[in-house]
Amino acid sequence: MKTPVLIIEHCEPIFSKWLELEYMHATQIWEYETIFTNVKDDNARKKLKKIGKVYEKSVIDLYKSKKCIVLDPLAQKEICTSDFNDIDAIIVGGILGDSPPQGRTYKLITARSNFAARNLGRKQLTIDSAVFVAKAVMLGMRISEIEIASEVEIKHSENHSTILPFGYPIIGSKVLITPGLIEYLKSKRHNI
Ligand SMILES: C[S@@+](CC[C@H](N)C(=O)[O-])C[C@H]1O[C@@H](n2cnc3c(N)ncnc32)[C@H](O)[C@@H]1O
Repeated sequence: MKTPVLIIEHCEPIFSKWLELEYMHATQIWEYETIFTNVKDDNARKKLKKIGKVYEKSVIDLYKSKKCIVLDPLAQKEICTSDFNDIDAIIVGGILGDSPPQGRTYKLITARSNFAARNLGRKQLTIDSAVFVAKAVMLGMRISEIEIASEVEIKHSENHSTILPFGYPIIGSKVLITPGLIEYLKSKRHNI
C-alpha cells in the first residue's frame, strides 16, 4: 500500500489563528506528505508553505483524474482500512467546526466533485482530530475502537468556561487537543 497524500482543502474565508493551529497539528499527526489546496490568500500561503505544499487551485480541479476519498460527515459509508489500499489522496475540509454542523464539507467539496466520500463516525471532529482518526484507521484500527470525547470544556475561572462541542480523540486518559489552542482561547478572552 502506498501512503496517500493528505490534502487539506482550505474553505474558510479567513485564515484565523485557530485554523492555523489545527492545520499545523494535522500535518504533525499525519507525518507523511501534506498539501494545502484552494489557498488564495498571500498571508496564508506564506505561512502554510513552511508546513506543506500549497496550491491556489482547488483539489476539485487539481486531483480530478486521481483516486481520492473526501472525509465528509454526511457520507453514507464509514471509512475502513481497506479504503486506503489504492487511493492517491485523502481529503479533509479546511473548515472550522460549527454547531450545529451546516454540511459545508458536502456542499463545498463532495457535491462539486466525483470523489468517493466516507464518514469517520457520527461526531463532528476538528480538522486535526479527523486526521488523527483517519490515520488510525489507515494503520488498521476500526472507528469503534477509537475513543472520542464529544466535547471539551476549557475552564477560565471557577464560574466561566468555554465548551468546544467537537470530537477530540482520547489517548490513555488524556484528550488530544490542538497544541496552543487553550492558550489562544484564554488570551482572546482577556482581550474582549
Ligand atoms: C470541523 S469539521 C467541519 C465539518 C463541517 N461543519 C460540516 O458540516 O461539513 C472539519 C473537517 O473534518 C472532517 N470531519 C470531521 N468530522 C468528520 C466525520 N464525522 N466524518 C468525516 N469527516 C469528518 C471533514 O473533512 C471536515 O470538513
